[in-house]
Amino acid sequence: MSSNKDSIKSTIIVALLLCLVCSVIVSGAAVFLKPLQQANKALDKKTNILLAAGMETEGQDIETLFEQFTPKVVDLDTGRYVSDVDPATYDQRKAAKNPKQSEALSGDEDIASIGRRANYATVYLLEKDGQLDRVILPVKGYALWSTLYGFLALEGDGNTVAGLGFYEHAETPGLGGEIDNPRWKALWPGKKLFDANGTLAVDLVKGSVDPNSPKAIHQVDGLSGATLTTNGVENLLWFWLGENGFGPYLNNLRAGGV
Ligand SMILES: Cc1cc2nc3c(=O)[nH]c(=O)nc-3n(C[C@H](O)[C@H](O)[C@H](O)COP(=O)(O)O)c2cc1C
Repeated sequence: MSSNKDSIKSTIIVALLLCLVCSVIVSGAAVFLKPLQQANKALDKKTNILLAAGMETEGQDIETLFEQFTPKVVDLDTGRYVSDVDPATYDQRKAAKNPKQSEALSGDEDIASIGRRANYATVYLLEKDGQLDRVILPVKGYALWSTLYGFLALEGDGNTVAGLGFYEHAETPGLGGEIDNPRWKALWPGKKLFDANGTLAVDLVKGSVDPNSPKAIHQVDGLSGATLTTNGVENLLWFWLGENGFGPYLNNLRAGGV
């Protein structure tokens, strides 16, 4: 005969109590760790901005380094800074999902396959000796498996690339994931995005760039075995540097005033 402890009723009560205790522990941990996760996310974003700008972050205090940058909110349609939005609290990713703070892109416009574009974007400026030295632009676009989120850093001329880095994506490691490879990222600094007429000219080529080609200054090697991710990177650059992205802002920057 089974003891009272082994009855179906006791088993169910023990199982329910165990579920309750476990769910309290899991939800408690989620609530308790949330501020830490958010702080780590913010630190990671700052690290990526610094890396895109070509700064050494190893062993450095990220917060102190990041203090050199001034965040500004840009109205993408006019290409001018807005003063009534606080860059510290403006969340471009959230805004892109809010129909009141973003616009839907038509099929022809949406070359980066992002669906909607926020009306405002946060850029990060670094000045040296009173001159604009770096401008960091947030970029995103769909590749093969995922949306790539990253930062494009330009020199003060608004044309020369200082760096490109992605901080979030789900492309395949060893294939599309090679966008994180330092050797590939090292191909970007010094490349010119626009030609002498101010026309967008950046180009990712299949194979290797011919160093003797007059177009080489605008070209970067595509990722071998990952043409689809490469196309995603090229498309997002063309979108964000074009008239629906930072085109108006960069025109103003190059003309000497935003
Ligand atoms: C499991 C698997 C994962 C893949 N992941 C990627 C990827 O992340 N990015 C990519 O461009 N191609 C990826 N590919 C390869 C693409 O299907 C396609 O073959 C490739 O982009 C063509 O590039 P290529 O012309 O340089 O060879 C993957 C293929 C397989 C089978």
